[in-house]
Amino acid sequence: MKVQFKVNGQGASVDVPPNTLLVHAIREHLQLTGTHVGCDTAQCGACTVMLNGRAIKSCNTLAVQHDGAEITTIEGLASADGTMHPMQAAFKECHGLQCGFCTPGMVISAVDLCQRHPKAGEGEIRELLEGNICRCTGYQNIVKAVQQGRTAMASA
Ligand code: FES
Ligand code: FES
Repeated sequence: MKVQFKVNGQGASVDVPPNTLLVHAIREHLQLTGTHVGCDTAQCGACTVMLNGRAIKSCNTLAVQHDGAEITTIEGLASADGTMHPMQAAFKECHGLQCGFCTPGMVISAVDLCQRHPKAGEGEIRELLEGNICRCTGYQNIVKAVQQGRTAMASA
């Protein structure tokens, strides 16, 4: 089945079997491999992308359900000149990552969190990020990064 998207600001189409998960359409058909697959069962958040402005787990939904959708993956966050998105820069500066496997999904969720909960305190940030699992960092620096990224997003 043919499915059309707008991905990272550009039109894209895929021709996929109807049972293709959105994450596989993104990774295997659009070659955007920054979106990771950690569990395939909607638990880890590694596959998180922005779909029509909201963070979703792309392993939990079929590509064909989203014809016409606007998708932003981690590859689409930086500016055209390569300048990192403020949240990406904050993760780097605050050491909010180690192996980096969870990071694309974590950053997308963090951007969504800051847009929808601009006043969330530390405890709320931890709760709101509970759908994204990191096996490395212990979360402390991720929370710091989200707070710093939120301030930077607000003043950008
Ligand atoms: Fe989608 Fe883990 S791969 S939540
Ligand atoms: Fe390794 Fe999060 S940095 S899983």
